Amino acid sequence: MTVRVPAKVNLQLSVGPVRDDGYHDLVNVFHAVSLFDEVTAEPAGDLRISVDGPDGVPTGPDNLAARAATLLARHIGVEPNVALHIRKDIPVAGGMAGGSADAAAALLACDALWDARLDRGALLELAAQLGSDVPFALLGGTAVGLGRGERLTAVEVTGEFHWVFGYADGGLSTPAVYAECDRLRAAGEEPIAWPLVSDDLMTALKTGDAGALGRALRNDLQPAALSLRPSLGDALAAGCDLGALGSIVSGSGPTCAFLAESAGHAADLTGALTGTGRFAVVRSAHGPVPGATVI
Ligand code: C5P
Repeated sequence: MTVRVPAKVNLQLSVGPVRDDGYHDLVNVFHAVSLFDEVTAEPAGDLRISVDGPDGVPTGPDNLAARAATLLARHIGVEPNVALHIRKDIPVAGGMAGGSADAAAALLACDALWDARLDRGALLELAAQLGSDVPFALLGGTAVGLGRGERLTAVEVTGEFHWVFGYADGGLSTPAVYAECDRLRAAGEEPIAWPLVSDDLMTALKTGDAGALGRALRNDLQPAALSLRPSLGDALAAGCDLGALGSIVSGSGPTCAFLAESAGHAADLTGALTGTGRFAVVRSAHGPVPGATVI
């Protein structure tokens, strides 16, 4: 059973104060883009993980896809005897929710393999137990996530948007970026605002206006990502100089997302950004695309 699952970029990531449970209340506008991982689930004598892709992905029980299989098995009362093979194309620790995507794909693949036939609501609930970004990887499209980011409402989008993503070498840890955000705020270097959905962003998405979308992009974690990885500032500026409609750190970074006017502009921008030598890999993609899908 093979499931294809997309990466995400955050169009708006507004971060409230830290909560008692250590998480932050968010307004998190997720947008699924056409960079995909694939997870294949096959019957096996025990739980096994194999990965086809870059180094740095855990293959033990800590892998979020393994935890997804174990959680679903416990929920339906079977042994988690499955071999999961992950083919990675989403950057690792890049702020594009690759690990969460693999967990969502593993849930769906094991649900099909074990003929569990859980309804969407039950799968979304299990997904939320695995991580704040996992439910969106099941849903796909474009959606507002409230709470930790797991309470989702789909957003109406006209047409599609064209993106270029630049990955640096070496990821950033999401907890470390949130901690840096808290530190900058405590030091008075960054304001704390109560998160609200941006009207400008919703209008840009509804009307399919890429220029307005570029102006509405906002990520409260960006100052923290730049504080931990100062070279990202120049990388974002390079995108603006080369004509991107908007340049933003994706989620907790360090991947930089650049919005283009069209597919042709995205292809040109991909070449120009590659030429700057600032990124290990530069890829174009479009969004929104559907969430995890059995193929
Ligand atoms: O939910 P998930 O395990 O993916 O979150 C990873 C980390 O990101 C958390 O341990 C926490 O440090 C941070 N986080 C947060 N507030 C959120 C979501 C994530 O502080 N709403």
